[in-house]
Amino acid sequence: MNKIAEITLTFVAYLKRPDLYPELRRKIWKNIFNRSSGLRGKEEAEKWCAALAVSEKGFIENVLKMPFVPFERLFPNEFAAALQAQAKAPVKMGGAGALSVIYYINEYTNSGNTVETGVAYGWSSFAALASLVSRGGTLYSSDMPYILQDQSSDFVGCVVPEKYRLNWRLFRFADKESLPKILAEQNIFDVVHYDSDKSYDGRIWAYNTLFGKVRNGGVFMSDDIGDNAAFKHFCEARNINPYVIEFDGKYAGIIIK
Ligand SMILES: C[S@@+](CC[C@H](N)C(=O)[O-])C[C@H]1O[C@@H](n2cnc3c(N)ncnc32)[C@H](O)[C@@H]1O
Repeated sequence: MNKIAEITLTFVAYLKRPDLYPELRRKIWKNIFNRSSGLRGKEEAEKWCAALAVSEKGFIENVLKMPFVPFERLFPNEFAAALQAQAKAPVKMGGAGALSVIYYINEYTNSGNTVETGVAYGWSSFAALASLVSRGGTLYSSDMPYILQDQSSDFVGCVVPEKYRLNWRLFRFADKESLPKILAEQNIFDVVHYDSDKSYDGRIWAYNTLFGKVRNGGVFMSDDIGDNAAFKHFCEARNINPYVIEFDGKYAGIIIK
């Protein structure tokens, strides 16, 4: 499909979804006036991340002080079933991130309430829920509908094991609509994991919205912080010394509050 056809189809798909009109307005604004937001300060961010980075294992053992067993070894049967579910999905979405870190920050905080933005196949949801269900906790997730796909068969979250789904509240709107709905239900969290809109401005809005909702001693995590300088600038503005984890050539930022 060429670019013009894709833009036209996307626009028409949005027009059929009045609940997504606010996001359509934001996308039009961003594409006309704010195209550089995705990569703003990338070079500066990458240098900073590289200087601070530790491994997943190093962070879990030395900072969280927990014995490290990789997530896929802790839940081998559920993990194998999740891989099969992903293989069966006809759509291509974002893949798994630092699953062990996500699992262990939920364990470390004994989380009863976790919020995440960005679900895709649901790998991060699976990792958070694997910890949360053992305490009867709840995961609140936000992800946009995949607007160009057949909405009758939705693959968002398809790798999340069936037995975890009673503990999962999935909100299918853009974050700017989902997060107020989530916060109306639950206002304080043990863990926040940000992995959705990666633009500089999208991150700053969400970081400011969510950081205050993490309890003292809780954990705030953001993926792909080397994409632009939003996480770095957010930490500098608040005098925070975060942890940076390198995983698969990308960086995740962690703040223990
Ligand atoms: C990298 S994927 C998430 C991967 C997931 N956290 C994991 O580790 O398995 C990013 C997701 O964010 C969603 N997303 C992007 N912008 C968004 C927005 N403004 N509001 C809500 N979801 C958004 C996309 O639809 C996509 O599914």
